[in-house]
Amino acid sequence: MGDSSHNGPIIELRSVSKRFGPLRVLDQINLSLNLGQTTVVIGESGTGKSVLLKHIVGLLRPDSGEVFFHGKRIDRRSEQELVEIRRHIGFLFQMGALFDSMSVAENIGFPVLEHTKCTQEELDRIIAEKLRMVGLEGLQSRRPSELSGGQRKRVALARAIALDPEVVLYDEPTTGLDPVRADVINELILKLKRELQVTSIVVTHDMASAFKVADRIVMLHKGKFIADGSPEWYKTSDDTDVRRFVDGRAAPQDLEALNVQIEDLTK
Ligand SMILES: Nc1ncnc2c1ncn2[C@@H]1O[C@H](COP(=O)(O)OP(=O)(O)OP(=O)(O)O)[C@@H](O)[C@H]1O
Ligand SMILES: [Mg+2]
Repeated sequence: MGDSSHNGPIIELRSVSKRFGPLRVLDQINLSLNLGQTTVVIGESGTGKSVLLKHIVGLLRPDSGEVFFHGKRIDRRSEQELVEIRRHIGFLFQMGALFDSMSVAENIGFPVLEHTKCTQEELDRIIAEKLRMVGLEGLQSRRPSELSGGQRKRVALARAIALDPEVVLYDEPTTGLDPVRADVINELILKLKRELQVTSIVVTHDMASAFKVADRIVMLHKGKFIADGSPEWYKTSDDTDVRRFVDGRAAPQDLEALNVQIEDLTK
């Protein structure tokens, strides 16, 4: 991969649709990511943000539509071919997804050993460097079960960037972190972009984080992108669905449902 003769978007989704049984999650989605750009994806819980990310690394395949990496179609590749593509794409999973039976060092080193033939010395250097980047120096021999939720998230992030990927997909990187730690992650996203020209997608509900890291914010709603603009645009948009999400206000129908339930309880 890393095809320098291709000058178009580094990742492109063309008319991607995905359903699970009767549930239509993605409905002819188009998205182009340019080199070095950070795109934030926002949208209600259950709307398909994680499903979208999984299409980019071939963990899910579209029912229809196409996915391109460096101008080459990847959505119909074999598992074996996808392994080579995934080397260039770091994925921070929403739940962290660390191997509990392995130490922190083994977790971070796992993708490195899977994709390269580096020496133990080189591996130790990579693990130490990535731990330092996420602020967890010296925790190599800990088990995931001995870490806090936020620390686990940061180990998962160290693993996602272990191979210096061109693209990093962050699925809710700041969820469950205190505001200070969350901001460390924001700074790290900015640093990877600045120093390594990393292209990123950040899925988040954390609007402070979105406004800090985004070059562009897209909002997924009922299978479609209903908004696509700069952070400044989102701050001033008067679209009802956008405002409600950005300002964190419940929809009237959600509150009605709540009232009904409370009335039931007091009967
Ligand atoms: N493998 C699957 N099989 C069946 N349904 C799935 C599968 N993966 C996701 N879904 C469904 O697709 C919808 C979108 O899920 P997804 O995980 O992408 O939501 P999300 O936007 O990431 O939500 P959250 O903000 O809560 O993480 C949900 O209704 C979910 O139940
Ligand atoms: Mg999700």
